[in-house]
Amino acid sequence: MTRTVEATLRACEAARAQGRTVGLVPTMGAFHQGHRSLMRRARAERGLVVVSIFVNPLQFGDPADLERYPRDEAADLEVADAEGADVVFAPQVEAMYPNGEPQVTVDPGPLGDRLEGAARPGHFRGVATVVAKLFATVGPCAAYFGEKDAQQLAVIRAMVRDLSMPVDVRCCPVVRQPDGLALSSRNRLLTAEQREAAPCLFLALSSAAELSRGGERDADVLVAAMAREIGATLQARIDYVAVVDDATFEQVETIVGPARALVSARFGDVRLIDTLLLPTP
Ligand code: PAJ
Repeated sequence: MTRTVEATLRACEAARAQGRTVGLVPTMGAFHQGHRSLMRRARAERGLVVVSIFVNPLQFGDPADLERYPRDEAADLEVADAEGADVVFAPQVEAMYPNGEPQVTVDPGPLGDRLEGAARPGHFRGVATVVAKLFATVGPCAAYFGEKDAQQLAVIRAMVRDLSMPVDVRCCPVVRQPDGLALSSRNRLLTAEQREAAPCLFLALSSAAELSRGGERDADVLVAAMAREIGATLQARIDYVAVVDDATFEQVETIVGPARALVSARFGDVRLIDTLLLPTP
């Protein structure tokens, strides 16, 4: 395990000098099968696998949310080891931001202000900034992200493209519980009742997919169906429901190309998100 930027940089440079390719899996810890699927893919594809564990204060607007974010470093280290990670980079906040809040940050552009960005102002600036720092430290050939955070993935892809970062951004499919609930570190904050209600997100996405498969092209019809499904769940309060162009993340009225459904709802004060690429008939 490394705690400093310097030690991590050295380990990655040494591996590259031996001709090994480097894969990075950025995380905030509290590992579940979703994180493991990213590590497994990196292990299969790269010579040196670096897993970072850092609960990045810069991407949390709400101090209470940051405070209660689940942390379990000992268990995480065992998981990373079992999945074949070569280096686990687990810095303290001071090691990542030695001068306090950074003065230079990565502007995620207009995509950073929509949907998740509107619900969490400053979130994607914090994400893009920390991921850029991790790329600079690790120098990965490839970095692995989950489709579950589809907008985050789109922001990272835009950053890599617009800032000419030589990193192959890889997308890994959403890992779910048998009842459809997408795995998330935040799931462990749910009460039993909220946990029982939470699959309404996937049910909503599935109803949109069903309509889309049947040929429905009017995004409003899909949005209404998703809102109905979540709205009928007592424990859930909708944050947003949307259908976007999968490439641009612009909301669409009529579905013509690849489109993605996105949902977000609060269960008490736990906010969950989920997404599904819509099938074309
Ligand atoms: P975190 O929420 O820990 O997620 C780390 C990675 O795991 C992300 O790429 C996320 O999309 C992926 N992931 C989470 N749940 C998943 C699931 N059910 N199936 C597949 N992949 C899943 O996302 C972050 O951390 C941070 O914003 C980070 C990118 C590390 C920057 O701080």
